[in-house]
Amino acid sequence: MIFISESLHLIAARQETCINAKMKRMTSTTLPGGTFKLADDLTLTRMGYGAMQLAGPHVFGPPADHDGALAVLREVVKLGITHIDTSDFYGPHITNQLIKEALHPYPEQLRIVTKVGALRDAQGNWPKALAPDQLRQAIRDNLANLGLNALDVVNLRVGGSDAPTPGSIAEPFSVLAEMQQEGFIKHLGVSTVSTGQLAEAQSIAPVVCVQNFYNIANRQDDSLIDSLAEQGIAYVPYFPLGGFSPLQSDTLSSVAARLDTSPMAVALAWLLQRSPNILLIPGTSSVEHLRENVAGAGLQLPDDAIKELNEIAG
Ligand SMILES: NC(=O)c1ccc[n+]([C@@H]2O[C@H](COP(=O)([O-])OP(=O)(O)OC[C@H]3O[C@@H](n4cnc5c(N)ncnc54)[C@H](OP(=O)(O)O)[C@@H]3O)[C@@H](O)[C@H]2O)c1
Repeated sequence: MIFISESLHLIAARQETCINAKMKRMTSTTLPGGTFKLADDLTLTRMGYGAMQLAGPHVFGPPADHDGALAVLREVVKLGITHIDTSDFYGPHITNQLIKEALHPYPEQLRIVTKVGALRDAQGNWPKALAPDQLRQAIRDNLANLGLNALDVVNLRVGGSDAPTPGSIAEPFSVLAEMQQEGFIKHLGVSTVSTGQLAEAQSIAPVVCVQNFYNIANRQDDSLIDSLAEQGIAYVPYFPLGGFSPLQSDTLSSVAARLDTSPMAVALAWLLQRSPNILLIPGTSSVEHLRENVAGAGLQLPDDAIKELNEIAG
């Protein structure tokens, strides 16, 4: 009798595990855009989350609503998102500490993409920090504040807030390539780079993603996106909703009104439909906005709407 009830218990437990596994698979594949494979051991949901908005005002200091910030991060995982974008200079340190508090030990599928190359000064500016010792310290800080032994992806951020800065990136990128060889970093990316700087990085080590400023109204990287798509490299636009200055366009608003949705939803859906290698990391400090963004990005834009939206950037 005991044997039978134990067997039934085991069968029920196995069934539950199977259902849970199925649900997990369903959750991630039902997110808008599905997934994108960046490397053999790195597949991300195209719908990701940018954690920058979780710190205090102007990305400085702690959030006004600590528990609210943890709730957003837990909802990210509940929704099946496997890509969180962050940096140890958000806060500074605060955003990574919130991620660790909310989610550590991390779900198996979750990948945290971080970036190095800047600092915050006492006035809240973002001075560059690309010297070898600064980069090594930044990697150590990311590891400690996220509670990891190795970082999934590290982007070397080399430009300004919305455009590349000319010049060689060979020295700082080589430092990260060395730290990858040492086992502290699994994959490398670059941020706010020109095509020349990307090529320079690729001559040193493989690049799995490029994170640059791009959205429906700022399309300076159109040809770069197409060339990365051909190479199977992810393009991750920051400020997908306009960042600190929300996107404003009569065309965007009128298309959204016609489709009975919000301009944010249209802006995200347009990015997902622009190219299969585009991954989204919209930022929000609100669970409600997070859910809206996930639902909105799944909107199927009709061809005539896309044609009209393509005119926004001129
Ligand atoms: N590589 C780089 O140099 C770089 C630079 C900047 C950013 N990033 C990364 O890119 C991510 C995205 O950029 P971002 O967060 O600055 O800009 P964003 O995603 O373009 O916009 C975020 C802003 O939109 C608001 N928002 C989001 N969803 C909304 C909704 N459904 N309805 C109304 N408002 C909404 C947010 O406010 P609420 O909080 O009120 O929702 C926030 O003010 C960042 O989180 C960061 O990880 C990288």
